[in-house]
Amino acid sequence: MPRHRSFLVLLSLVALVTLLGCGSPESADEPEPVAAVVEPPPVAAAPATATATAALSGHEGSGISGTITFTETAEGASYEAHINGLSGAGSHGFHIHQTGDCSSDDFKSAGGHFNPADTLHGAPTDDERHAGDLGNIEVDESGHGSLLGSSNLITVGAGANSVVGRGIILHEGTDDLVSQPTGAAGARLACGVVQGDS
Ligand code: CU
Ligand code: ZN
Repeated sequence: MPRHRSFLVLLSLVALVTLLGCGSPESADEPEPVAAVVEPPPVAAAPATATATAALSGHEGSGISGTITFTETAEGASYEAHINGLSGAGSHGFHIHQTGDCSSDDFKSAGGHFNPADTLHGAPTDDERHAGDLGNIEVDESGHGSLLGSSNLITVGAGANSVVGRGIILHEGTDDLVSQPTGAAGARLACGVVQGDS
């Protein structure tokens, strides 16, 4: 091979390596903006992963059942409850009670309202209220009711205000939101125990 030819081969090899060398950082740069756009949603969704749930049951033969799910938020917890099997339309007191024990026939084993700060009973919108005061569930003529809300006085995670291990009570009557210490909501129709989901 003539000398100038092998020099040309060498030159083109150098050119090729240079091209490849320049090309790869460029293509490596490209996916980065995409990754930056995709990343924020999982970060924003992260605080809302902890949940806890209670399944409510009425007295035997009542046909009453329900669920409530609590979801940790930046300022406490949000909740979503559904009740089924009531005999008609009405407004029913609905609270978190101190003890996750539904063993007694009248559900009084669940104790009084969850009240870690030793305050007065109130409406869910009152500054002074029990941590357990969720107000009333409005039930329609088909016997179904649901309730959505959030509270800065409860948490899903461990601590004095945690709902895990507490009782949930649906009452026969309406919580008047002022009578002490229970809102005069009457007998207990259904009970459930809050369990952490993890
Ligand atoms: Cu109650
Ligand atoms: Zn209360």
